[in-house]
Amino acid sequence: MSSITIVGAGHVGVIYAAGLAEMGHRVKVIDIDETRIARLREGKIWFYEPGLPELLDRNLHRRRITFTSNYRAGLAKAQFVFVCVPTPTSPDGSLDDRFLRKAFEQIKANLGRPAPIIVNKSTVPVGTSDDVARLFTTSAMRVVSNPEFLAEGRGVEDFFHPTRIVIGSHDRVAAQAVAGLYAPLQAPVVFTDPVTSEFTKIAANAFLATKISFANVLSRIGEKLGANGEDVSRAISLDPRIGRGHLRAGLGYGGSCLPKDLAAMETLAQKFTGSSELFTAVAAVNRAQRTRIVDLLLARFGSLAGIRIGILGAAFKANTDDLRDSPALALARELRDGDGDVAIYDPVANGHLRAFARGWMTVTRSAHTAIRGADVLIVATEWPEFASLDFARLRGLMRGNLVVDGRGILDGERIRALGFDFFSFVGSSNSSETLQHRTAVATA
Ligand code: UGA
Repeated sequence: MSSITIVGAGHVGVIYAAGLAEMGHRVKVIDIDETRIARLREGKIWFYEPGLPELLDRNLHRRRITFTSNYRAGLAKAQFVFVCVPTPTSPDGSLDDRFLRKAFEQIKANLGRPAPIIVNKSTVPVGTSDDVARLFTTSAMRVVSNPEFLAEGRGVEDFFHPTRIVIGSHDRVAAQAVAGLYAPLQAPVVFTDPVTSEFTKIAANAFLATKISFANVLSRIGEKLGANGEDVSRAISLDPRIGRGHLRAGLGYGGSCLPKDLAAMETLAQKFTGSSELFTAVAAVNRAQRTRIVDLLLARFGSLAGIRIGILGAAFKANTDDLRDSPALALARELRDGDGDVAIYDPVANGHLRAFARGWMTVTRSAHTAIRGADVLIVATEWPEFASLDFARLRGLMRGNLVVDGRGILDGERIRALGFDFFSFVGSSNSSETLQHRTAVATA
């Protein structure tokens, strides 16, 4: 059993705190946000993550986790310090390392003795210097790069069943000690140097983004060709060289990680190879997915003025309340900019959503309210509950009859049989041309 301090009570920090406590360690969590810390002491987590409240609660009762805003108290007796602070994108596209710099300054100023091993899990601006150790630390500090690969909404599952552990350090003893913490999880461990480890993180997310854009291009070609893009993705994913996952066509990727790391990769490719066209294209394909929906509506209605659009889902994906860089919200904004009348509903993100919407769109308390009187229904987040809506009832609630499945979760055949016009990014039978033809006939 080790004494571990986590710096940063965000998505990653709280999952690591609860997970490491569950594994038997004594964990302290430091965050400069005192309100957040006070709530966490009561087991109240400021974001939605399935399974995490129970895990935290259990370990609070076992007295294995404590929370503080005081670095000196938080770092006392720590054998390992996990740095889990955010590194958001700055307006100029580079990584904003302010929180990381501050965290390292505080750690440096309050280090106990013997000095703990510092495990950095924050994404760092790779390529600006040799590694995070050189950027922020002194030679007395033993720093290990250990990127996190937790996906939001399945973070607890990912913590206990990692596909790999990447450990980058010039200090072999420190690297082995960190590997020892993860040993019970029985995951393959890649030992490497710090820069390689940090680059691994960006490479993984850039590749996932590339897979999604690839699937989206497949679906576009399939639509014209009369081939079912979803079946193609499923068939190729069975080849282990291609792999399952992140091949679902739809509204595109968002969140705080894929867009940010793809942008970082684009910058690195440009800086070190003079060309970044692969990654530029991935981002362009992603943006174009939502434009496809706007174009579809324009083709049907001529203009969006007076058109009522009910959007189901606001989070950047299901099982999270995270709105950062959400494709659903980007689409809502584009539709509103085109004078559409937008109502939106999300099963868990509504609280954050109200602050975000600030009057330019209506946030509703239920899916039915968002859809009532709508000309168009758009599923923008893959929440499973949207797939089980009673579409026969919705038909009577709506003014129009267009359903757009932006996430490939609805049963198009069943919905069409109820008299809806249906468009989705997957499948060959619902091409926009077919749809436009059908709606032209219907409105003639
Ligand atoms: C991502 C990675 O998946 C994690 O491994 C990584 O640890 C994390 O970033 C991070 O860097 O912290 P996350 O941002 O939670 O995790 O989201 P993903 O599950 O990767 O989904 C990203 C976006 O892609 C979502 O908007 C989702 O709807 C979309 N997506 C995903 C698709 O459009 N198609 C797919 O097939 C899969």
